[in-house]
Amino acid sequence: PDDLDAWRAAVRPETRAFYGETIGNPRGDVFDTEGVAAVAHEAGIPLIIDNTLATPYLYRPFEHGADIVVHSATKFIGGHGTSIGGIIVDSGRFDYGASGRFANFTTPDPSYHGLVYWDALGHGSYIAKARVQLLRDLGPAVAPLNSFLFLQGLETLSLRMERHSGWS
Ligand SMILES: Cc1ncc(COP(=O)(O)O)c(C=O)c1O
Repeated sequence: PDDLDAWRAAVRPETRAFYGETIGNPRGDVFDTEGVAAVAHEAGIPLIIDNTLATPYLYRPFEHGADIVVHSATKFIGGHGTSIGGIIVDSGRFDYGASGRFANFTTPDPSYHGLVYWDALGHGSYIAKARVQLLRDLGPAVAPLNSFLFLQGLETLSLRMERHSGWS
């Protein structure tokens, strides 16, 4: 993951995303978000970062060039091992129209009344499509009680990450 030329060489016509973990499981290596984001953006590709291990308290990938951040909320965000779930956070910055790689954003979606996501929603396209099409088709909505448990865990994220990091 540290070899930017390897990322550049891996780009193919069908490439739709680069994906990395801020702190990789299981090696614990630290991802070069800025370097890989620059290579991704040269090729018109968004960078998705799994920020599970660092959490937003220790690292904010959007400030280093990431376009989309995902977390397993099952770990530090929930904090108590009570619930399984995940989060997608969209920076809204990636230009799916200019990229040329995303016909599913720039041509009509027959399953959604012919909607052209990029024309109708612009930079809100990715996260809207995730909800109205993929959530609709696949159904992975978190249950209300699990949402409550995640939010209650989240309230102490800062305190727990300080302790995990040995700061207090
Ligand atoms: C970095 C990272 N992201 C995502 C996952 C998947 O999370 P979940 O179990 O919530 O699906 C794991 C491990 O399970 C992980 O270590």
